[in-house]
Amino acid sequence: MRALIEYRKARGIETSDAVFQKAGFNEMTLYRTERGLTQPTLETLERYASAIGFELALRPKGEGSSLQLRLPKTRVLTMFNHAGGVGKTSLTRDIGYTMAELGFKVLLIDLDPQANLTAWLGVSRPVQDSQTVLEVIQGENRDPKLPTPTRAFNLDIIPSNLNLSRVDRFPVQGRFRRLGRAIRHLDVYDFVLIDPNPALTNLTMIALAAADQLIVPLPANTKGEEAIPGIVEALESVKEETNEGLSIGAFIITQYDTKTTVDRVAVEHIRSLVSPIAPVIGPLHHYAVFREAQMLALPVSLADPQHKATEQISRITAELLSELQVTGKH
Ligand SMILES: Nc1ncnc2c1ncn2[C@@H]1O[C@H](COP(=O)(O)OP(=O)(O)O)[C@@H](O)[C@H]1O
Ligand SMILES: [Mg+2]
Repeated sequence: MRALIEYRKARGIETSDAVFQKAGFNEMTLYRTERGLTQPTLETLERYASAIGFELALRPKGEGSSLQLRLPKTRVLTMFNHAGGVGKTSLTRDIGYTMAELGFKVLLIDLDPQANLTAWLGVSRPVQDSQTVLEVIQGENRDPKLPTPTRAFNLDIIPSNLNLSRVDRFPVQGRFRRLGRAIRHLDVYDFVLIDPNPALTNLTMIALAAADQLIVPLPANTKGEEAIPGIVEALESVKEETNEGLSIGAFIITQYDTKTTVDRVAVEHIRSLVSPIAPVIGPLHHYAVFREAQMLALPVSLADPQHKATEQISRITAELLSELQVTGKH
């Protein structure tokens, strides 16, 4: 119950909110339940969890915690910007880690043959092809399963290696939706975060076809501004061809250098360009700790828990969860 109360507060839900009335609670029963004056039944716990946007999944003893919060449905989020060096991989690592810290079950999929995400989370190498999604995309099986993920900190990750670039050297007609299908076979995760290559190749298109929503990092500079038309165009073509329901969940402004006026101007300009399209989150500032975290093969929050970057990542993750309506308020 204590965990549920914390979740309620973290999501800014008041006991007077309509979600609780809809779930059959009045304020008095909530007051008594939250203070332990009445022992909640399992059914009460389930209703409470569902009111704040979770499902409670009971797991048999011996498989970690016996009680786990689950979102009703897996959300697949692809970090997308065809430009490189904009912060896709860093944000996948850090937002993924922070979501898992909050108690969500998170799977990261490295879909970049450069395998930065794999390296930055300290996955031991060489990575075998069978550990990657290569077979999912290229194999004979039209309805393939995902490989068993590797554990890194509080996360699961399907790593990558250079051979994944084969997907971009051979035709993949009729295979664009395979990854998405394989992910949806697994009803295990709250969030699946995909980190694609910086391009508009087959691999990128597979990442876009698999997503419910895109998270778009935009650096606070001209590179960020210039990428916007291409991002919108790619979204429209994917909607037409493979994934009608795809949308942008949020833009995240990143690598903001507060000391330069040009960056301040760029942030405002970017905000004005993209805020009609989707919510704008951030800015995340430019900090050397991102490079240090890479060297240490740690998420920023573990590399330097007291750093301002850690605080900003927590805030950005909370804002993202709220924009994605993981609040129980929908
Ligand atoms: N907020 C930030 N502040 C400083 N450096 C950053 C920040 N975000 C990313 N970087 C650095 O920029 C480079 C590119 O980031 P990366 O996450 O690899 O982008 P992408 O995946 O889009 O190519 C990396 O060296 C990374 O350490
Ligand atoms: Mg990358």
